[in-house]
Amino acid sequence: MQAVVLHGGQGTRLRPLTHTGPKQLIKVAGKPISQWVLEQIRDSGINDVIIILGDNNPQRVIEYYGDGSWLNLNIKYVYQGKARGIADAVYKVKNLVNDRFIVYLGDNIIPYDLKDLVKFKGDASIMLAKVNEPQRFGVAIINENKVIKVIEKPKEKISDLALIGIYGFTREIFEIIENLRPSWRGELEITDAIQSLIDKGKNVEYKIIEDWWKDTGLPEDIIEANMILLDRYANKEINGEMINSKVEGRTVIQEKSTIENSRIIGPLFIGKNSLVKNSFLGPYTMIGDNCEIIDAEIENSVVLDNAKIEDVSIRDSLIGQGSLIKKGKTKPRAIRIVAGENSRIEV
Ligand code: G1P
Repeated sequence: MQAVVLHGGQGTRLRPLTHTGPKQLIKVAGKPISQWVLEQIRDSGINDVIIILGDNNPQRVIEYYGDGSWLNLNIKYVYQGKARGIADAVYKVKNLVNDRFIVYLGDNIIPYDLKDLVKFKGDASIMLAKVNEPQRFGVAIINENKVIKVIEKPKEKISDLALIGIYGFTREIFEIIENLRPSWRGELEITDAIQSLIDKGKNVEYKIIEDWWKDTGLPEDIIEANMILLDRYANKEINGEMINSKVEGRTVIQEKSTIENSRIIGPLFIGKNSLVKNSFLGPYTMIGDNCEIIDAEIENSVVLDNAKIEDVSIRDSLIGQGSLIKKGKTKPRAIRIVAGENSRIEV
């Protein structure tokens, strides 16, 4: 069996972080979102993966994952080009997949054992979860243990069971997609393709999950996903250098990082080659690679690679790659900011 991972989209709601690359490469709890997806696929026993690339710096994805061998995967790439919907992206693998395959939206984090899905027997398989805002998703109506209808972004509240980002298909889906028409948002919807299967009397299996999952479209989703993944998976693993510092709880400190005169409370992750000096780092914080954290306090935040934070106290924040945040030493003391498009700053 093969897995198809969607890695496109513009990530507009995560700008400016997505100006330089796709949102699936944003790190949470120490790894890009899509790496969590790929490792989960591998752990379900699938090693052949096809990544569908979008048009937002797709070469960054290839540079990062390469042929996948470092993850024990065999990765091939296909360009979707301009985003025309999930069904359009799936159609791009028509000549590359065998009879059964799974599709995983690379911006969804669904920490769920995929072994059952991999063994689906029907004509398709979907995964569902109860949500508070069904109008933001595709939803399914279930009657007598059967999926009788699926609708993309329903205007009326007809079901609170959302389709979440993992699907199982057979090659039959390609002919269905050939006959789809774009939706009101101009996309070929995978939900409409599944409805066509139902209309043809095909068997669409489903599984309702009760566990936490996340479609990481917004900055607060990234902060929450980081918190949950650190909570579940961070173990105490200190490979950096500790100088006069105290570490409590499950904390990962990777190679070549130095922690000096600081107090750290896990669950927490510090990447490679970072310096934390005279600082306090509180629970649910991720510090990326090559960061400098000096005289600072940081809690429940995601600080991406190459950022520098000095003499400030921050919490519940998402700090982009290469950002600099520091207390100014000169007067007047008014805050000086260079904020990217759609930045959010609370002072
Ligand atoms: C897509 C699907 C939708 C599904 C959702 C899950 O929505 O179209 O059916 O419920 O992913 O994250 P989109 O992210 O394109 O709005």
